[in-house]
Amino acid sequence: MWRGRQMLVGERVCEARGMGMTIGVLGGTGPAGRGIAARLASVGHDVVIGSRDPERAEAVAGELRARWGDRVASLTAGGNSEAAAAEVVVIATVWDAAVPTAAAHANALAGKVVISMANGLVKQGREFRPVLPPEGSLAAAVKAAAPGAHVVAAFHLVPAAALEDLDQPLGSDVLVAGDDEGRITVLDLVDGIPDLRALDAGSLVNAIGIEAFSAALLTVNLRHKGEATLHLAGIGPRRSPPDPAQGDR
Ligand SMILES: NC(=O)c1ccc[n+]([C@@H]2O[C@H](COP(=O)([O-])OP(=O)(O)OC[C@H]3O[C@@H](n4cnc5c(N)ncnc54)[C@H](OP(=O)(O)O)[C@@H]3O)[C@@H](O)[C@H]2O)c1
Repeated sequence: MWRGRQMLVGERVCEARGMGMTIGVLGGTGPAGRGIAARLASVGHDVVIGSRDPERAEAVAGELRARWGDRVASLTAGGNSEAAAAEVVVIATVWDAAVPTAAAHANALAGKVVISMANGLVKQGREFRPVLPPEGSLAAAVKAAAPGAHVVAAFHLVPAAALEDLDQPLGSDVLVAGDDEGRITVLDLVDGIPDLRALDAGSLVNAIGIEAFSAALLTVNLRHKGEATLHLAGIGPRRSPPDPAQGDR
């Protein structure tokens, strides 16, 4: 249930910004998951790194604690089921496991904001090519697999290594797409991370373009030997909250 910029989670009212939410990361043991987990913990969220193997999750949490100390003091670890029990859930598994993982935890994800960051990609020679499912995007397929969840696409174009390096200014834009108020929660979540700028990319259908663009971006990085991320010019601050009278969703 939503009250303006506040989200009611069970008995708890979470301010969407500057809040300290409980966030679970499914498949949080890979580069992207541990990067997201470290960043979110570093800005005060309680983050549960999830894995199919809780010992692997604990090992990753231990590595992050050893590297970043008190800056990630709010990190814990567990199985994917424990991560799926959090208030907000990030699906950070390898891309072709995102939909089956959402389906496996669909009951736990119902009613929650679920962030899909998966990019379906294949490498052919010196380029990456997008792999999009029949639903259009992996985010839409996640939504179909967990229909009770407020699925939001985000973080697709932020390099994992930069996310995990808390000393590195990120300087990235994050395109955020979703069909309901979950999008506002994620926009505010992203804006709560220093040096990330959240951009409202509209409905979940636009995840198609975001996921597909990742193939072009990674190909540029491959061919130019770089780690480019997204930064758009020519836009002002986001209007918020969206105004349904203007056709915003
Ligand atoms: N890497 C990046 O820079 C980056 C940037 C933006 C978005 N992304 C997206 O973020 C996601 C994660 O990327 P990544 O590079 O971190 O991926 P990854 O290392 O290949 O995999 C992440 C985790 O997925 C879990 N996993 C593997 N096979 C699985 C299966 N069959 N079922 C369930 N879980 C499985 C593993 O966790 P456990 O074995 O511990 O369960 C693994 O540690 C991908 O969807 C990717 O497209 C990545």
